[in-house]
Order: sequence, then C-alpha cells, then structure tokens
Amino acid sequence: MAERITIHKEKKPIYDIVIQNQFAPLLQEMERLGYQGRRVCIVTDSNTGDHYAEVVKELLRPLSGVTVVFTFPAGEEHKNLDVVRQLYTFLIEYKFERQDVLVALGGGVVGDLTGFAAATYLRGIDFIQVPTTLLSQADSSIGGKTGVDFDGYKNMVGAFCMPKLVYMNMHTLDTLDRRIYLSGMGEVIKHGLIRNKDFYGWLKENGEAVKGRSVDALIHMAMENCHCKGDIVEEDPTEKGVRALLNFGHTLGHAIEKQIHFSMYHGECVSVGMVAAAYISWKKGTLSKEELDDMEQVLSMYELPVRVSGLDADAVLNATKSDKKMRGGKIRFILLSSIGEAYISSEVSDEEMLQGLEYIGCVREKNEE
Ligand code: GLY
Repeated sequence: MAERITIHKEKKPIYDIVIQNQFAPLLQEMERLGYQGRRVCIVTDSNTGDHYAEVVKELLRPLSGVTVVFTFPAGEEHKNLDVVRQLYTFLIEYKFERQDVLVALGGGVVGDLTGFAAATYLRGIDFIQVPTTLLSQADSSIGGKTGVDFDGYKNMVGAFCMPKLVYMNMHTLDTLDRRIYLSGMGEVIKHGLIRNKDFYGWLKENGEAVKGRSVDALIHMAMENCHCKGDIVEEDPTEKGVRALLNFGHTLGHAIEKQIHFSMYHGECVSVGMVAAAYISWKKGTLSKEELDDMEQVLSMYELPVRVSGLDADAVLNATKSDKKMRGGKIRFILLSSIGEAYISSEVSDEEMLQGLEYIGCVREKNEE
C-alpha cells in the first residue's frame, strides 16, 4: 500500500511526497528522478544511522554511483553551522558536484540541516527528505524550510529550498520511543485544527489505531496530514500570508520550550501552546467553550500535555518578544474561529497572552493594590 501527493508551485509539479510501508521503492523513485550514476550522500545522525543508514546505502547501490554516509551526533545542539561546515568538507573530499544529491535520513534536525547544506553547497544541489520520526513526517520535511540554530536562536539561519522528493517509510515509526512518537501528534492534530475538521474528527475516532501504530491508520493519517500541510505551503511557499497559520500554538509553545530549556518535546510544547491560543480564541468570542474542551480531550487522549507547572507567565511572555513571528514589532498570533479554521491576528494583547498562560497553569504575580 502506498500513497503519493504532488506538491505544486504556480500549478507546476515540484515534488512528490511518497508514503510507503518499506524502503525498497526509494530506489525506483530515485531512478525516476534520474540519479543513476550520481554521487549520493546519506546524511544522518547517530540515532537513526545505527538503524537505517546501511540498509538505505545497500538499497541505493544499483544507482551505481558512489554512495557515502555522513553521520553527526544526534540532538538539537548539533543543528549548527559547525556541523554544516563538516558536511561541506566531507562533500568536497568526496568530490560532490552540482548534479549529485543529498539524502536526509532522520528527524527534523537532520532534514533541516541537510536541506540547508544542499541549498548552499555549490549554490545549491538536490536533496531528498527521508523523515523517520512522526514530527518530521508530519511537519518539517514538507514545505522546504531548511536551516540551523544560531547563537541560541532556533532556525535563525536558513533558506527556503524545496526537496526533490519526500519519501516516508511508516515502519520507521515502529522503533520510536512512545513519548517521542506521540509528541509528533501535536503537529498532526494542529493541522486538523487549523485546516480540516473532518481530519480532526478522524483523529478523535481513531486514537487506538494511531497509538497502536497500525500501519494502515498511519498511512491514512500521513496522507490527510500531508494534504493539509501541502495545500498551505503550495498556496504560500515563503510564508508571506496563509503559511503563518501553521504557527498555531507556536508563539507561546516556542517561548515555553525556551523557558524549560527544551526538557519537553517540541510537539508537547505546541500542545500546551495550542490550548493557550484556543483559550484566547474563546475569550475573544470566536471559539466555543465546547470546542476548547473537546480539543483538550483529544490532546489528552494522545497523551499530550494540556497544562504546565512551575512556569512564570511573565517570563514566558518575555520569551515571545524575540520570536521570528513578529512583524513590525507586533506578534502575528494564530487563533481559531472554529475547529478546522484558523486566522491571523495582530490584536492579541500582552494581557490576553498572560491570561492564556495562566489558563494552562503558568503562575502570575498578582499586583497587590
Ligand atoms: N513548521 C511550519 C512551517 O513549515 O511553516
């Protein structure tokens, strides 16, 4: 069983997302793209490499060019320009030219870093995303955002650069730790909430199959999810407008992530950030209380947090001020008008954000009169 979604730009097909339950057809896909005889560099990290690098390298042998593996230590702290520099050196050593290709095999860190190296090496070479975590399959591998962290700021240096193919083998999710796996559901549920009420309803009905990692359920979920995200990035590839909706839950979620020094996973921070944003939507009268409650129930069913503890609301608010989602000094906040529909607001005050943070359990100093 396999599914294929084509991403377009100005009505022209740009790349396919292939959703599979095995690695083997990746070879055919690469042949179709014309990589016979080209050099291939599989870029991976110490976690994923151990599981799959040799399997994929062996699989691509019939392309009959040179296939090499570049592995760097796993973790967000390695998503930096030093590792990019090491990768450039490696590619120069193996004489990579512009017609050659990088294959990003791993989670979001691997995909973002490889994409950035591909965007800049020799002013741009091809790359293919082979995301192996739910978070990267659901979000970061689709849409061409690439980059690395810089000076403590996430994704501060980067480029929009579209992959030539996104290839998902749903069985790579089998080996993920349960909490890491479920944290990816934060982004999946987000896509239903901002774009597709029916998909949200499907997620609500199929919790057991998804949590049990039934491959049929995962393929269906990936397809619906990629349609949601794919439609948005087709409409607005460089985030001039509608793509900002994908930041639902991220303004406060990122700030919380920073405050807790990344001790919760990204999808978990997005989950609490979405609850705070939905609370603000309710207070503004756009979302109903039933919808807010329903959303909290669905997030909880997927074992995602809907509250935090031990966080100071003002400190979290301050952390939002250095967020990239600002325009002209104003935060572009994403709110819900209903489940399945989101909008951008520049009218969310600090007081409203503090109330949202208080709702999710952040502590607020009360001013004594
Ligand atoms: N992760 C948000 C985006 O791709 O725009």
